[in-house]
Amino acid sequence: MSELWKNGDYVKRYNNVYGISGEQMDRYLAPLNLAPDDRAVEFGCGNGDALARVADIAAAAVGVDISKEQLENARLKLEGRKNILLVESSFLDCRGKLGGHSFTKGLSRKALHHLTDPEKKIFVEKTAQLFKKDSIFVLEDGIFNFDRAELNEKVPEIVAEAKIYYGAAWPQVEKDFMITILEEFVTDYKTWEAAFNHGGFMMTSRKAYSMFYGMMVFKKIG
Ligand SMILES: C[S@@+](CC[C@H](N)C(=O)[O-])C[C@H]1O[C@@H](n2cnc3c(N)ncnc32)[C@H](O)[C@@H]1O
Repeated sequence: MSELWKNGDYVKRYNNVYGISGEQMDRYLAPLNLAPDDRAVEFGCGNGDALARVADIAAAAVGVDISKEQLENARLKLEGRKNILLVESSFLDCRGKLGGHSFTKGLSRKALHHLTDPEKKIFVEKTAQLFKKDSIFVLEDGIFNFDRAELNEKVPEIVAEAKIYYGAAWPQVEKDFMITILEEFVTDYKTWEAAFNHGGFMMTSRKAYSMFYGMMVFKKIG
């Protein structure tokens, strides 16, 4: 699925249709409680919209993304911002490229579901070493509020809820939505919690915005 993000037309359409609104941005960034001495990293930074907001407050903001096209959009948007670094990398390979950095805040939105469940665990294990004790990590993504093993039987219920959730935009987003739910690797809260626990993080809160989308906040305890 990461292949899609190398396609300029797909990237342009994503940013047009799914660009983050002001309200969504506030909701995503609020649990981070950003402060001027923070050093933050966003995994799957896309076109850099959230990174720009983070860097308005934090001392440094690093964005990791595999897509040259998205990073080019981010570069144009963030040109001249001295406290922002963009790193072209897959999630699983970024540890080596971030070697000299340490972070107090981590964030990711609509991106880490591209990893399979075993890869999620590997990703957290590798990147956890970059975070200082007491760091906060906010994950907002497709997350199921039921056991992923029940996905097939839940599909009619998910589709009914998604139609309400997306309202008038449903016809435009239906195909992407079904691909994300059925072909990408959206998982459940307990799988994410286990992956973060494995990396030395403890979950401090979680919120389901729907049965298929939600937010989890973790604190590094180790
Ligand atoms: C759905 S977009 C989300 C962008 C942004 N965070 C947002 O909230 O709109 C997913 C992003 O993750 C990136 N991505 C997908 N798979 C990736 C991978 N394996 N490694 C690194 N980045 C990846 C894509 O290039 C894309 O920019």
